[in-house]
Amino acid sequence: MSNFIDPAIVPKRRLATGEEIPCIGMGTFGSDRFTPEQVSGAVAGAIRFGYRLFDCASVYGNEDLIGYVFADAVSSGVVKREELFITSKVWNDMHGRGDVLLSLAKTLKDLQLGYVDAYFVHWPFPNYHAPGCDGDARNPDSRPFSVERFMSTWRQMERVHELGLVRHIGMSSMTIPKLEAVLPLCRIKPSLIEMELHPSFQQPELFDYCTNAGIAPIGFCPIGSPTRPDRDKTETDVVDIQMPEIVEIAQAHNVHPAVICLKWAVARGQIPIPFSVYENEYQSNLRCTFEDPLTAGEMEKIAKADEGCRLIKGQVFLWEGAKDWTDLWDLDGTITK
Ligand SMILES: NC(=O)c1ccc[n+]([C@@H]2O[C@H](COP(=O)([O-])OP(=O)(O)OC[C@H]3O[C@@H](n4cnc5c(N)ncnc54)[C@H](OP(=O)(O)O)[C@@H]3O)[C@@H](O)[C@H]2O)c1
Repeated sequence: MSNFIDPAIVPKRRLATGEEIPCIGMGTFGSDRFTPEQVSGAVAGAIRFGYRLFDCASVYGNEDLIGYVFADAVSSGVVKREELFITSKVWNDMHGRGDVLLSLAKTLKDLQLGYVDAYFVHWPFPNYHAPGCDGDARNPDSRPFSVERFMSTWRQMERVHELGLVRHIGMSSMTIPKLEAVLPLCRIKPSLIEMELHPSFQQPELFDYCTNAGIAPIGFCPIGSPTRPDRDKTETDVVDIQMPEIVEIAQAHNVHPAVICLKWAVARGQIPIPFSVYENEYQSNLRCTFEDPLTAGEMEKIAKADEGCRLIKGQVFLWEGAKDWTDLWDLDGTITK
């Protein structure tokens, strides 16, 4: 097996701005299980292997170590800065007036970059929880979504874009009702939206809404996040890599079920950002984007296997008086207040 994939042969997606983005990237959230050293070590190996898209965030607590990896890769000639597509996100505690610029400045310093390729509002409300907190923990300052508050954060995102510090701006964990409310107010529309997407949670309505609006969907937890923090696990959660349809297709292609989740994601048109610190895993994840595609019948079988099983429910962001985690997701078609 070759130890380098020419990034030119990895398929690309075109954003509404006309720019290209690789059809797959590497996630960098260590899920409280993997250390910053392990994650940044994987990023270093992944760049050498041919990955060009990396999904970072200030709250992952490892941007400083990843920054050394980017700086070293560029200065040693492994990759040119403009060949990388690096994203980051403003965390919920930095939505206040002037805070987006402060947060971005820290991220740029940590990542050792002059700009990021995309910057996201990580969650659409300023509700904050302590890192590693229990699933039942609630912050008394948490509030339901407000269009006004979100737009004041988005105006700051537009400003950092105008300053040239960010090449695209994006949102994350949105719903159609929230998008309907805010998109008409945006001076600069999001180029990308991060959303949970895996075979047991396909969000077809949100996926179609975004693609029809010219917004590229980035799919997080593309393998069903088997190593996610315990606080994000419940007994009824589906395990994607154990779904009979996925296991059967994996046997037919002689690969791990994780790889089938990714082949499906890329063929469907979202941009998956799988995480792994293991070389054999992240190498297979990049390679599978251009080798041995799924058949139309296999794609259909996976489409029918959707179970509507959301894994990242976000319960730690709930406000006083909220019913349960479903309040975050506007299930009745209106924004829950
Ligand atoms: N915007 C947001 O709010 C948001 C939310 C969540 C995540 N994200 C982003 O999305 C990224 C991915 O999500 P995630 O890390 O939660 O979940 P994921 O990518 O669905 O799952 C990661 C796990 O899958 C396993 N895996 C990966 N490749 C494999 C392979 N080829 N064969 C077998 N197993 C494989 C690994 O588990 P083992 O260690 O057991 O092998 C790994 O820890 C994050 O790192 C983060 O960058 C964003």
